[in-house]
Amino acid sequence: MVKLVCSSCQQCYSENDPRWQCDCGGLLDVQFTPEFDADKMQHRPFTMWRYREAIPVLHDSNIVSFYEGFTPLIDIDMDGLTVKVKMDHLFPSGSFKDRGASVLISKVKELGVHHVVEDSSGNAGAAIAAYCARARIECDIYVSSFASPEKLRHIESMGARVHKVPGSREDAAEAAQASRTVYYASHAWNPYFLHGTKTLAYEMCEQLDWRAPDRLVVPVGNGTLLLGAFIGFTELLNAGIIDKMPKLIAVQTANCAPCAEAFRKGKDDISAIDSKPTLAEGIAVAQPVRGSQIISAVRNTDGDFLTVSENDIKEWLHHLYRRGYYIEPTSAVVFAALSRCGQKIAKNEVIVTVITGHGLKTQKYT
Ligand SMILES: Cc1ncc(COP(=O)(O)O)c(C=O)c1O
Ligand SMILES: [Zn+2]
Repeated sequence: MVKLVCSSCQQCYSENDPRWQCDCGGLLDVQFTPEFDADKMQHRPFTMWRYREAIPVLHDSNIVSFYEGFTPLIDIDMDGLTVKVKMDHLFPSGSFKDRGASVLISKVKELGVHHVVEDSSGNAGAAIAAYCARARIECDIYVSSFASPEKLRHIESMGARVHKVPGSREDAAEAAQASRTVYYASHAWNPYFLHGTKTLAYEMCEQLDWRAPDRLVVPVGNGTLLLGAFIGFTELLNAGIIDKMPKLIAVQTANCAPCAEAFRKGKDDISAIDSKPTLAEGIAVAQPVRGSQIISAVRNTDGDFLTVSENDIKEWLHHLYRRGYYIEPTSAVVFAALSRCGQKIAKNEVIVTVITGHGLKTQKYT
């Protein structure tokens, strides 16, 4: 049975209840026991929906999909350190957010919702807009005024209405939440999104012959990739499919590092920080709503937070361009971070990271 459970007061809600927040204002999480049916899986196409029994959408007829997922896992050599990289910029809308959007918009369809609102730095908005277009669901996206123009054109071209909000990501979120009559399909708040991003963990373990990597290194803004991966690995561990939990390494930009700062101070919750503008627009999130969950996931896996400078981001972005990877600046942060901790990593460790977004949407940096 699938339930929505409040992370603050433990109040439970039915999966048929079209809500994104507890009455107490708390965050909701999806509670259910996934199943992994190896026989069925073997005969299915290589998409993220091959793990069908582990995804909390009731009826197949509600699945909204472009046959996305199972992105390549390739080796990249970084000065003697071999890193395995999931090519998640190859998703239909050009970022890993399609994982979350496919599951969330399938659930939205199942709930009979016809109009959604979302706020985003660009990629989540594009992913939600694409899946809404596929499902013929009306869509309004609120974006902060610094979002890349290519991302805004991308969202608009798919029929969603774009609302530019002056100020920060938090201002865009507030504006989206103000439209109370429309369902809030937020990647940050809505827990179904994380049951899409968790397929990153399933896929990489399957690509590693059902073994877990030693470390997973991901960029963190609202933490949807990191928290999804944590859920995915936990589920595989509980099902006895993998035998250890990878260390989760979260990378933030030094110009906006609320979780890294709290972690360094030994705190469980984030506090207000002074953030500065950054090239890594996808992780320019000063107040991630799931901040304490992010810190707890990293701590529970004996992981770490790393921060990178703007110069490092620029250097690694251009370094990756020259090696043939057309990625966006936010996706360069993991390589900048890895280049600094190479000495501390044993040669036989299996390290996985992710290219999270395509460079075609941030061409002004080339
Ligand atoms: C390209 C890219 N990478 C990473 C992230 C970070 O994802 P999250 O905010 O879920 O941590 C984003 C978020 O927008 C993004 O667009
Ligand atoms: Zn509550």
